[in-house]
Amino acid sequence: VERTLSIIKPDAVEKNRTGAILAHLEEAGFKILALRRTHLTRAEAEGFYAVHKARPFFGELVEFMTRSPVVIAVLEREDAVNAYRKVMGATDPAKADAGTLRKLFGSSVGENAVHGSDSLENAKIEISYYFPGSLVSPTA
Ligand code: GTP
Ligand code: MG
Repeated sequence: VERTLSIIKPDAVEKNRTGAILAHLEEAGFKILALRRTHLTRAEAEGFYAVHKARPFFGELVEFMTRSPVVIAVLEREDAVNAYRKVMGATDPAKADAGTLRKLFGSSVGENAVHGSDSLENAKIEISYYFPGSLVSPTA
């Protein structure tokens, strides 16, 4: 069993889709181990997306992620990281498969409803960024 970090982004929270997305995740077999609604500060968003600092869209990304509250969750399931990436769909909602969270709830590559960790290593880093260390891995 594995854990991953999910963020329901400002666009989806603004549209009151939080519950729909969480229900979708439970239907897909994820356990919601921790859940927190917070309005990210600029420093938190810049730190979280530090790997994208050199990208041309970095400023836009930070503006968007700090626009209004997000809902951050620790999810547990077998093969959680890959399974959640599949449930999210492609970064660009227009290219995402039918039935994925980004197809259902996203509206553009910038406003794509959800974030998910892209590797088990990054999941551990991202979980510890937002939650206490005891949540990082199942055996911790
Ligand atoms: P995350 O789960 O959010 O990390 O998405 P991802 O792994 O599918 O995409 P990636 O890590 O490459 O990019 C991180 C985030 O930056 C994306 O989810 C988008 O919200 C945003 N992003 C990526 N490309 C663009 C772009 O061209 N324009 C804008 N405005 N945002 C972008
Ligand atoms: Mg990513």
